[in-house]
Amino acid sequence: MAAARVPLSLYVHWPYCSFLCKFCAFSKARVPSQGVDHERITNALIKELRTSLAPHKDKELRSIYFGGGTPSLALPRNIGRIIDEANKLVPLTADAEVTLESNPTLAEVAKMRDFKQAGVNRYSIGIQTLDDESLRKMGRLHTGAEGLAAVDRAKTLFPGRVTFDMIFGFESQTLRQWRTELETALDHADRHISIYQLTVEPGTPLFRDQRAQRVVLPSDDVQAQMYEMTVAMCRARGFRHYEVSSYASHPSAESMHNTGYWRGQQWVGIGPSAHSRFTDPASGQRISSVRIPDTRRWVQQCESVGHGTGKELAVGDAEAKQEAVVFGLRMQDGISDQCFMGISGGQPLASYLCMDRVQYYIDEGHLLWHAPTACLAPTERGLQVIDTILLEIIP
Ligand SMILES: C[S@@+](CC[C@H](N)C(=O)[O-])C[C@H]1O[C@@H](n2cnc3c(N)ncnc32)[C@H](O)[C@@H]1O
Ligand code: SF4
Repeated sequence: MAAARVPLSLYVHWPYCSFLCKFCAFSKARVPSQGVDHERITNALIKELRTSLAPHKDKELRSIYFGGGTPSLALPRNIGRIIDEANKLVPLTADAEVTLESNPTLAEVAKMRDFKQAGVNRYSIGIQTLDDESLRKMGRLHTGAEGLAAVDRAKTLFPGRVTFDMIFGFESQTLRQWRTELETALDHADRHISIYQLTVEPGTPLFRDQRAQRVVLPSDDVQAQMYEMTVAMCRARGFRHYEVSSYASHPSAESMHNTGYWRGQQWVGIGPSAHSRFTDPASGQRISSVRIPDTRRWVQQCESVGHGTGKELAVGDAEAKQEAVVFGLRMQDGISDQCFMGISGGQPLASYLCMDRVQYYIDEGHLLWHAPTACLAPTERGLQVIDTILLEIIP
């Protein structure tokens, strides 16, 4: 029997947005006034794809994720070219997940069918909120009704494979408003939804507005209540809270691509600012790399040397172990001793973590040790404060 191929994922970063949201710290730029040079950027992506996937031809591609920025602004035929080229270099598995992130503007909704024909089989829509005034204040160019219409349309084309993003904790949002909004969102949801608590990211217009007291966000107490209500409402509709911000009503709807990140699997990222984490087949060393963030410089380097890598480093043992715990404990399934030992060279979790703090959080009902599977996992209460817990249990 042939040896099983090692799974690999591909992340493709599309760096442009048609509007820039006040809260967003992702690597992106507004579409240039002269328009995007689609041919040039796609050719650069394909060059980088060829260079970067060449060492991985013995693996198999289990997921491709087009993120951004707003990749629904790309031309569907170019998305198709990238998928086809990736498949030629490293074969896609029969059940490979191919996700595209999108905005729900009318122009992008009109392209949904073409994205499906290009090979996309999972559709992710940034709704954020259904409140038109909040959408306007954030700087977004669509309404709540257009958001829901995009979800309904996507469900006809990608049944069972539609997800959308919501954020709570906006300026002047009340608990009651969020409850009503989430009810409506869940009425329209397919089998997956991502719900984020608003983070005020340094360097964003929102950060400056908050510092200057031009916006007042709900208090920490209200945000904690919003989170608890979110979890309870999703659970009541049959959605499992499988990761800090991710809910799925069926195991097959859980994001294969993101779960790969959280389980420490290998991925190659292409496009400006994209990160990669993989084991170099030649040296056996785990590598972390990041592409040049500036799109113009990234394109030029791809054209001259075949890739836009900015920095590439070997991942040390200490970093690998820390990452495994940080990402593993974002998931309700947690991290198994077996998985950790695979990364740590045989060291069990119990001899790595600060066990007195782990025991404290187990006693407090924030963590649990599941003996039959030898897994450390957060409870529902623990997931809510997982960042604080991680600071204390990791040496
Ligand atoms: C790259 S965007 C998604 C695609 C598309 N650009 C859009 O905005 O519709 C990724 C998602 O991260 C979330 N996000 C971005 N900045 C955030 C912040 N400061 N706080 C919470 N969620 C945030 C949003 O829900 C957003 O949809
Ligand atoms: S949230 Fe999406 S549309 Fe808004 S700036 Fe960020 S990447 Fe662009």
